[in-house]
Amino acid sequence: MMRPTQFPRHLWPLSLHFFRNRLFLGGFDLSELGRTVGTPLYLYDAATIDHAISAYRRGMKVWPGRSLITYASKAWLTLPLAQLLAHRKLGLDVVSPGELTIALRADFNPALLHLHGNNKPPALLQQAVNAGVGAIVVDNLYELSLLEVMSPPSPMALWLRLNPDLLAPTHAYRQTGHHGSKFGLARSDALAAAQRIAAAPHLQLTGLHVHIGSGVFELAPMFEAIDRLIDLAADIEKEGWGVIRALSPGGGLGVPYHPDDPAMPLYQLVRQLCAYAADSWGRRHGGPHPVLILEPGRSLIARSGVAAYTVGAIRHLEDGSRIIAVDGGMSDNIRPALYGARYTAALARAPLEESAGPARIVGPLCESGDFLIEEVDLPEARPGDVLLIPVSGAYHLSMSSHYNGVLHPPVYLHANSRLIPMQRRETLHDLMRRDMPLDL
Ligand code: LLP
Repeated sequence: MMRPTQFPRHLWPLSLHFFRNRLFLGGFDLSELGRTVGTPLYLYDAATIDHAISAYRRGMKVWPGRSLITYASKAWLTLPLAQLLAHRKLGLDVVSPGELTIALRADFNPALLHLHGNNKPPALLQQAVNAGVGAIVVDNLYELSLLEVMSPPSPMALWLRLNPDLLAPTHAYRQTGHHGSKFGLARSDALAAAQRIAAAPHLQLTGLHVHIGSGVFELAPMFEAIDRLIDLAADIEKEGWGVIRALSPGGGLGVPYHPDDPAMPLYQLVRQLCAYAADSWGRRHGGPHPVLILEPGRSLIARSGVAAYTVGAIRHLEDGSRIIAVDGGMSDNIRPALYGARYTAALARAPLEESAGPARIVGPLCESGDFLIEEVDLPEARPGDVLLIPVSGAYHLSMSSHYNGVLHPPVYLHANSRLIPMQRRETLHDLMRRDMPLDL
């Protein structure tokens, strides 16, 4: 039997605990829950979200001016989550009519929203203007030309997204700040954009933004990006093209998914980032501090989420390893297939039992890329066991698919000792809702 202290607690929600050697979320036995609610099932723990928000707020205090956490909706957004975040007075980064509409339905203060995207259609820009979003983040000069011919009722606040020509130390698909990336304005284009905005009475440059990538643990490239952003702010102001009131070094802080991943406390990462930004602003600009806007997705929500699956077919291989098939896979978590993302897992009824050897956790879908964990040590598992995968809160359900006609899982929020439904399980009726039967 493993000791509870050997269990990687830092990967699991704060409300997770052991009782009679079984895993509980608050008062809820996760084995039982998997059986009664059915799997696949996603659970979020509000205390863990609040803990991350508080780590950000405490870390951001080293910034001498005002600061704001703006959640990156792409990590996962639903109406109830948006309501929870609006209630906690966060801002929201949205990129589509869908995310914007959810935010407005959740009563977000539109002034705390900003619109991102590398190819925003005119209708989306118009929707954002009509809604009164706090800022539209200009990503390229074509987008600026669309904005130049719009006629908003009052001047439109714009930020410029800088492409700082830096490579973030992360998976290639998550790098966004290098030369050749589809995102952001090269420095020369950003200066040209600032000059054009200054010449348009209905446009107003109020902020600058940079985001070099996602899943980053090494802060040095982020520091470099911040320096380049602040230099741009100083140059734009010197030319008289705008006053930078909002400065956003984006999101992208990594979180551990696996016991071997670096596990620096979030508060420390945030604090180091903000302390560097404050120092850099003082050295390179020196004027009054703008509002600092951090834009986390993953680091705010990933750890609060747990995915629960039921074990089905188990295949024993000659080398002593096992292939354990569960009832969810790449349709609810594409990350292992897409980025080679590594996860760990535990059996809800026996989280501390000795390992019976390595297992590969696979899903039920029709391709060999449908796996959740390449290799994990697990105790003897039986069909019907509930298998839990932690750090499932970000970029799972927001990237889910209907491959093989599977239904999206239900989502519950654990808050105030209760389990509150956030999203019901999808039904077969939902699945066929958009289909138009042919009249043959
Ligand atoms: N801001 C911008 C402009 C972004 O593009 C992103 C993420 C974020 C903030 C939030 O980054 P975060 O704090 O979550 O790292 N599907 C990938 C991640 C893609 C991230 C896309 N943009 C994954 O599952 O790892």
